[in-house]
Parts: sequence; structure tokens; C-alpha cells
Amino acid sequence: MNPIIAPSILSANWNQLKEEVQRLEKAEADWLHLDVMDGHFVPNLTFGPSLILQLSQITSLFLDVQLMISNPEACIDSYIQAKASSISFHFEAVKDPKILISYLKKHNIFTGLAIKPKTPVESVYPFLESLDYVLIMTVEPGFSGQKLIPESAQKIPALRAEIQRRDLKVQIEVDGGVNDTTAQLVKGADIIVSGNYIFKNSNYDVQISKLRDLLNH
Ligand code: DX5
Repeated sequence: MNPIIAPSILSANWNQLKEEVQRLEKAEADWLHLDVMDGHFVPNLTFGPSLILQLSQITSLFLDVQLMISNPEACIDSYIQAKASSISFHFEAVKDPKILISYLKKHNIFTGLAIKPKTPVESVYPFLESLDYVLIMTVEPGFSGQKLIPESAQKIPALRAEIQRRDLKVQIEVDGGVNDTTAQLVKGADIIVSGNYIFKNSNYDVQISKLRDLLNH
């Protein structure tokens, strides 16, 4: 399996975001992972739909939007209009995920459900039939540069088994603390988000190909 590599721009230099995106394109990143944070659901505040729309106008990279926000239903249209390629929201942020999942699917959005490290992986099982992917957070959402939580990575094989048992096509995305030493813990995921590890070396292509070598098999 050759997983999709999705650099998280949370770790990018926001003073030159356009150039950073161009560097990532040259480094053959597959997706851009966009961490939307509201300072309420998570203790950090990042950006909203206007930045995503501007990014959509400068790159053809797949824009993978993760909503780490409370009450995502209230503003979901602005992310659809911002030309997000995929949108995930948090299981912990809504009463019934079914409502937003069907709304996003109705709008032809590649739809994901994200879970925090402390949320059991079984929580997403009732929704797998209608999901395109599940985002397993391997750090507490909010900041880049944190240490991967190994117990969280163990959700990957459990979820894979459930997907295969039910013969579904749901993809597994993993996000948080992925680097050259933790890569083997997240093998088996389809989509790999990495921030700090990719951006800590100005040669993004070196970092991305290192991750690919460690994860491809
Ligand atoms: C954390 C974000 C992650 C983070 C990944 O809340 O959702 O996307 O930016 O960065 P690293 O790879 O440094 O953990």
C-alpha cells in the first residue's frame, strides 16, 4: 500500500504560504491537510474558509479540511463553498454525526469523521457505511509537534478489520506526531498527515520521500 502523504500547513511558514504550497507541490505532496481550529473545541485558533478558498485558487492539490470546531453544522456551508476537497468533523463535536455526514455527502464532499485519542474506535462503527474516511488523531488535537500516542495508533488495525469484515471502502487517515521513528506505528493507514517532521527540514521532498520509504509496502 502506498499511502497518501498530506502535509499539515499548521507547521508551515505562514508569512510565505503561497511559496510553501509551491514547495510542497514540487516535493510531490499528495494532499494539503488544513487544520481549522476555533479556540473552543481545541485550545488553539487557526484559520477559516477564506484562507481555504484562497488556497484553492493557487493550487490543484487536494484540500483535506479537518474541522476542530464546536457546532460544525452551523458553518459547514462556508467550507463547502471554500472548495474543500474533503471535510472531516469531530465525533465529539456533534450530537448525531449522521446528520452532517448525509449533508456533506449530498453536497458530494469526500466525508470523514475524526476521533480524539480518548474516543474509542468503535464510536465510528455505526457510521462506516456512509463515510469515505475516518481520521484517527494520534495526538490531542490543537497543536503540531506533539508526541504520537501509541495506544491511538492501535485503532488502525482494529478499524481496518471492521472495514474488511463489512466489506466497506472506508479509508483510514492518521494525524499527529508522525515522523521517521513513529511511521511504523501507523503502517496500514491510507492517508498520513505530518506537520512538524516535514517542515523541520527545508527540503520537503527529502522528508516526504523518507516517509514514503518507511510506509510503502
Ligand atoms: C494537530 C493537528 C495536526 C498537526 C500535525 O491538532 O490536527 O494536523 O498539525 O502536526 P504534527 O505532525 O507535527 O503532529
